[in-house]
Amino acid sequence: MKLQDKVALITGGGSGIGRATALLFAQEGAVIAVSDVNETTAAETAEMVTSAGGSAHVIAGNVSTTEGSRAIVVACMEHFGRVDILINSAGVALRHAPPDATFDEAWDFVMDVNLRGTVMMSRFATDEMKKTGGGTVVNLSSIYGLVGRPAELTDGFDPYTHSKGAIVQLTREAGVKLAPDGIRTNCLCPGFVYTNLTKGLAENPETMALLESRTPMGRFGEAEEIAKAALFLASDDSSYVTGAALSIDGGYVAQ
Ligand SMILES: NC(=O)c1ccc[n+]([C@@H]2O[C@H](COP(=O)([O-])OP(=O)(O)OC[C@H]3O[C@@H](n4cnc5c(N)ncnc54)[C@H](O)[C@@H]3O)[C@@H](O)[C@H]2O)c1
Repeated sequence: MKLQDKVALITGGGSGIGRATALLFAQEGAVIAVSDVNETTAAETAEMVTSAGGSAHVIAGNVSTTEGSRAIVVACMEHFGRVDILINSAGVALRHAPPDATFDEAWDFVMDVNLRGTVMMSRFATDEMKKTGGGTVVNLSSIYGLVGRPAELTDGFDPYTHSKGAIVQLTREAGVKLAPDGIRTNCLCPGFVYTNLTKGLAENPETMALLESRTPMGRFGEAEEIAKAALFLASDDSSYVTGAALSIDGGYVAQ
């Protein structure tokens, strides 16, 4: 087992990549703090983990504010007394903003969840990791943190990609700064993966055909394929890797 008795705090653990990661990490011996703004889906993930013989605890919480992020880490410390692994998987797209939001409000909404949440969760969790000799952080960026979107898919000012680009740079800076504390910080840059986030895209045959045609391997990925990469970055298998951005994208950014 690669994560025996490690405490893994997973934001966005109620769905998609966060859920798949919770299930895989539990199989590898980790105890899971499943956090999500949606308490119902977080509880479903925890139930899936325990049904499979693992151990999980639900922490309902909203990462989009400093206080919300702090409260999640505090709750993890109160329950487990430590945090060894942080997976920052909570994320939203522009379409999740309230329908009547102005451009500025929608931009802030996406940046607050995706970027502020990742920054604040990382700050508070790594402060705790320092006290116990180290840990690992895996952030969820995107291919669109590395390259621009096709013109058909953007008006050029989509905060989703702005947040994902900033997460790559956060990962580098934190990777450098926290290395002496025994904390490794890396990010994953997934391509198109079947989850609730991409359901709308996958339901539109024209968009689907466009995205598949732009992906050298010609298909979407599965959340479990991203979870396996998260396991690599969270475990000692990647003991000499920090500050890195790993593309898991069927070849998309290699073009
Ligand atoms: N699915 C993809 O194709 C893809 C590609 C690249 C990157 N990503 C990134 O991977 C991460 C996970 O995405 P996913 O596809 O699993 O999406 P998902 O929609 O299936 O899951 C995201 C989870 O985040 C939670 N969440 C939303 N706002 C939150 C908040 N304020 N506080 C706490 N939790 C919140 C949601 O409730 C949901 O459970 C995201 O950061 C996403 O941007 C996904």
